[in-house]
Amino acid sequence: MISILFVCLGNICRSPLAEAALRATAPSHWTIDSAGTGNWHVGKPPDPRSIEVAAANGVDIQRYKARQVQRADFERFDHIIAMDRQNLADLQQFARPGQAAKLHLFLDFVSGREGQSVNDPYYGDAADFDVCWAEVSAGALAIVSGISS
Ligand code: 4NP
Repeated sequence: MISILFVCLGNICRSPLAEAALRATAPSHWTIDSAGTGNWHVGKPPDPRSIEVAAANGVDIQRYKARQVQRADFERFDHIIAMDRQNLADLQQFARPGQAAKLHLFLDFVSGREGQSVNDPYYGDAADFDVCWAEVSAGALAIVSGISS
C-alpha cells in the first residue's frame, strides 16, 4: 500500500493538479491526497483555471476541497511531496525524528529538473496552468516508476 500527499501553498493550483495527474496514472489502490501549507482557501474547490486545465486533460477535480497540512499527515502518509522549495522548507520545520513520512521535492523525480520548483501559476494565465499540467503529468509518470520500483 503506497500513500502520497502533495503539498503546495494554497492547495488550489499545483498540488490538486499533481493529485489529479497521479490519480490518472497510478494503480487505483494507491492513496493520493493534497494539502496546502497555508489556510486561506480551506474548504474551497480548486482555482477555476485548475479545474479547466484538468478537465481539458480528462480529469474532473471540481469536487476537490482545499485543506491545510496537519501534523497527523506525517504519520498517515509514506511520502509527502512538496511542489516547491519553500513548501519543502516549511514541511521540514514540521518534521520530527522517526516520523513515517519521507519528504521529497516534486521535480526531484523528473530527470533533468532536480532541485527545481514547480512555478506557481496563481498569478499567471491559462498558459501557466498548461505548463503546470505538463510538469505535474511528467512528475506523475516519474513518481509511479520511482516509488513503486
Ligand atoms: P498553489 O497556488 O500554492 O499552487 O495552490 C497558490 C494559490 C493561492 C495563493 C498562493 C498560491 N494565495 O496567495 O492565495
